[in-house]
Amino acid sequence: MAELTPDDLMFRPGLMKGERILITGGGTGLGKVMAEACLILGAEVYICGRRGGVVEATAKELMAAHPEAAGKVVSLACDIRVPEAISEMLDKIWSDGGALTGLVNNAAGNFISRTQDLSPRGFDAIANIVFRGSFFVTLDCGKRWIAEGKRASVVSILTTWVWNGGPYTVPSAMSKAGLATMSQSLAVEWGDYGIRFNNIAPGPFPTEGMSARLNPSQAEDTGGAYSDMTGNPMGRVGDMRELANLAVYLLHPLSAYVNGQTIAIDGAAWQATGGNFSRLRSWGDAEWTAAREAISATNAKDRAARTV
Ligand code: HXC
Ligand code: NAP
Repeated sequence: MAELTPDDLMFRPGLMKGERILITGGGTGLGKVMAEACLILGAEVYICGRRGGVVEATAKELMAAHPEAAGKVVSLACDIRVPEAISEMLDKIWSDGGALTGLVNNAAGNFISRTQDLSPRGFDAIANIVFRGSFFVTLDCGKRWIAEGKRASVVSILTTWVWNGGPYTVPSAMSKAGLATMSQSLAVEWGDYGIRFNNIAPGPFPTEGMSARLNPSQAEDTGGAYSDMTGNPMGRVGDMRELANLAVYLLHPLSAYVNGQTIAIDGAAWQATGGNFSRLRSWGDAEWTAAREAISATNAKDRAARTV
């Protein structure tokens, strides 16, 4: 379902006209709402994911929900774990109106697991998307921007675990921390080119993808900071509008002097509670087996829908 109306955005109509933004994983969840905000404000938005049907349906849905918008949403089936597939996707985007002006590294995979239960393939399943895939997309875009002398804004969606670790989500926490380092490094290295890098570290924003793998039993108090909001200083989860407005701010050229920063949007949860899954220390074998079975069922369902 489309989530936003123009009144949900703090910016003037047409603010993002002329902006061309790629949002990886833009077919669902946070990526979808950021795509919608950019569309409403007049941007040309590209969304990609492995499930071609999902990104296509999202593009159609958002365009139908906002017929007044000057921009557009274009869907592309792409697996960002495959560098050649990324190049092919970027070729299509560049030939559909020129260089991107913004990239949101949003695509991710994640699941809760005791670290001693992970296999190398389990680690790779996360790291290949988040750590390697996001870097490949950034690198390919960066080479094109540098060659063409174009400015751009890159926003990577991290977690607050980059500051204090992610027990039971170690491959994700390690990968997100790697991306944080990428952003800090390239903010300096590519600042001269007008290419800047910032990160958003969201707290809990309920999405299907997040709930299925991080709170698989859907119980009230399993996810610590992610299902029990009593520890959150604001007593609630995030509102998608809050995230969308922050993303637009960082993508727009008028925030151009903001470079190399990570902004948490979590109600101060991580300062108050750690913001991670440390409370899962109370789980035993039975809970972990049940969680893994529930996560595996979700993974199998998603795999069946992948077109790339
Ligand atoms: C241990 C597990 C596991 C689990 C999978 N594996 N689930 N290991 N515990 N719960 C292992 C498998 O056993 C296998 O290793 C390997 O991982 C690959 O599993 P597949 O099911 O074949 O993986 P695949 O189909 O490629 O799926 C990739 C995925 C999946 C990352 C595992 O979750 C996915 O596609 N996710 C995309 C969407 C998503 O995760 N969104 C959530 C983002 S939310 P072996 O050795 O057995 O073969 C998010 C929020 C962060 O990041 C912050 C929250 C507040
Ligand atoms: P989500 O709906 O599951 O989004 C993940 C998206 O990534 C999906 O659309 C998925 O589509 C895509 N994706 C995964 N692997 C891909 C690949 N190899 N190539 C291309 N696309 C791929 O989850 P979400 O909650 O919106 O999460 C979005 C981002 O926010 C992630 O970076 C997540 O870590 C971060 N985050 C979320 C929360 C939260 O509370 N929701 C909190 C902190 C951080 P396909 O499966 O079709 O490929």
